[in-house]
Amino acid sequence: MNQSNIIKKDLSNLPVKPNLNNYDKAYSEIKWQELEKNVDFFEDGTLNIAYNCIDRHALSSHKKNKTALLFESSTGEKETYTYLDLYKSTNKFANVLDNLGVEKGDRVFIFLPTIPERYTVFLGILKLGAIAGTMFAAFQEMALLDRLADSEAKIVVTNAVLYPRIEKIWKDLPNLEKIIIIERGSVDQPKGEKIIYYNHEMEKASEEFEAVHMQKDDPSYMLYTSGTTGKPKGVVHSHKDIVSAIATTKYVLDLQENDIYWCTADLGWVTGVVYGVLGIFGLGGTTVAFEGKFSAENWYKILQDYRVSIWYTAPTAIRMLMGSEIKPKEYNLESLRFLGSVGEPLNPEGVWWGLEEFGLAFHDTWWQTELGSISITNFQALDIKPGSMGKPFPGVYGAIIDDEGKELTPNEEGNLALKKDTVYSLMIGIWNNKAKFDSYFNGQWYISGDRAYKDEDGYFWFVGRADDVIKTSGERVGPFEIESALVEHEKVVEAGVIGIPDDLRGEIIMAFVVLKPEIGESEELKEELKMFVKGKLAGHAYPRKIKFIKKLPKTRSGKIMRRLLKAHELGLPEGDTSTLEDY
Ligand code: WT7
Repeated sequence: MNQSNIIKKDLSNLPVKPNLNNYDKAYSEIKWQELEKNVDFFEDGTLNIAYNCIDRHALSSHKKNKTALLFESSTGEKETYTYLDLYKSTNKFANVLDNLGVEKGDRVFIFLPTIPERYTVFLGILKLGAIAGTMFAAFQEMALLDRLADSEAKIVVTNAVLYPRIEKIWKDLPNLEKIIIIERGSVDQPKGEKIIYYNHEMEKASEEFEAVHMQKDDPSYMLYTSGTTGKPKGVVHSHKDIVSAIATTKYVLDLQENDIYWCTADLGWVTGVVYGVLGIFGLGGTTVAFEGKFSAENWYKILQDYRVSIWYTAPTAIRMLMGSEIKPKEYNLESLRFLGSVGEPLNPEGVWWGLEEFGLAFHDTWWQTELGSISITNFQALDIKPGSMGKPFPGVYGAIIDDEGKELTPNEEGNLALKKDTVYSLMIGIWNNKAKFDSYFNGQWYISGDRAYKDEDGYFWFVGRADDVIKTSGERVGPFEIESALVEHEKVVEAGVIGIPDDLRGEIIMAFVVLKPEIGESEELKEELKMFVKGKLAGHAYPRKIKFIKKLPKTRSGKIMRRLLKAHELGLPEGDTSTLEDY
């Protein structure tokens, strides 16, 4: 790469000295053991995420009245919550659950939009030692059923608007004992013997609760995520993850005492959990939470009105902003001082655009649901090579290896892997699926499923996925889930699903559909199928492109050869087809 394409960091020009000001030094010196000191452990060596996020600040004189949450609703109402407010509300909610008989290790799932109660509920669950599961408000019945059935959730917390989707599937959820409805914003409340109301219960609950002592490896939160095969899998994380959430928020996102922080990810995704809650509250910082929809106008207004200084977002959003008529320069965004991006490849154009429009480069960060915190990344104090994901976080050992686990030389493409013992917040398991968990590892290595290379300066460059997982608008979608939804349609025999490149969304979902012989092909039917999948899974997880096909390419053992569908669609070489059945 041409030197002029490197963004040189001049530390003397920065308004605030970064928490990490020398990458090489930090990489050689910082150890996880050292980073544990940013967290409060109880005297018996146990800890609790919620205690670290809320209680320790609320119990300190200088932090208790500090603003933790600045909320803006979709209709523009504003609310402010201090650490003391969240201390009381999380204690109350932990008591509500306790009174309902929820025990350590029980699964409590959250199905809500971005409202303040969602934070209270999430942290209240952790305080009690139950496992918090989060779900995106766009999920429809099939996506909900997969998650709630597999996890055997005992309680779901939702609202009147979303409740009907759960009601439809409740008969298939024998373990689901109670539904808690948050009253905010609705007049008509659903009724039922097993339905209870949040405010009603909270009023009765005590404000006193002592956070349950959890072992480092006791489960804290779980999130379902997609792979190539089968239904989404429950990735389980532990209470010790607060250590790396804090460390990365401090040293990568560079959070400092007076920052106003905004992570745009929803709590339904891992970024929303780790960087929307754990890291920011763990450090006693102030975060913005915005319920409204994405638009250039809405987002720039939030950045401006709240004087956001640290902004962590995603490439699809950046590309949408780049394409908008509304420009950042129409707003006063002078408070911004650090920009981060995660979830999918950030094109160099995005980095340069940031520099041009905000006077700041976006810092690309790489990690996965399974890893629990930023693992390979750019830093405020490290030169950026636009298009590169940067370098490993101190304490993490990242490498490019071949299929046998041998490290490759610089610029050779291979499997992006991490030494498993160096990923502090690595998942502790896949819910009820040991075989799947084991399949991630090859000896000392955790295999990410991404293909990448490392250059001679130690910077990592993303190449693509090694499997059929689709990344659309930064969201991970398994082809099998879309195929399963499609075949539930009465006119469909079978379907093969792939991701194809898209300028805005990174990839879009494309389906090849085999119709029953008597069914005629039509554009209307394509629309019908799109709507059908949308209604089953989620607003974002549907095939934007559909092609009818007479027969799917399959291996002799009956597996759909998605690679071949992709090769045909994109005009790429077919590769090895020796296992292909007659086609
Ligand atoms: C997959 C993980 C981790 C938070 C959100 C995504 C892709 C993630 C980058 C990046 C290129 C990226 C990878 C990875 N990905 N960040 N900076 N550059 N690709 O978590 O849903 O678990 O997805 O997202 O393919 O394996 P996730």
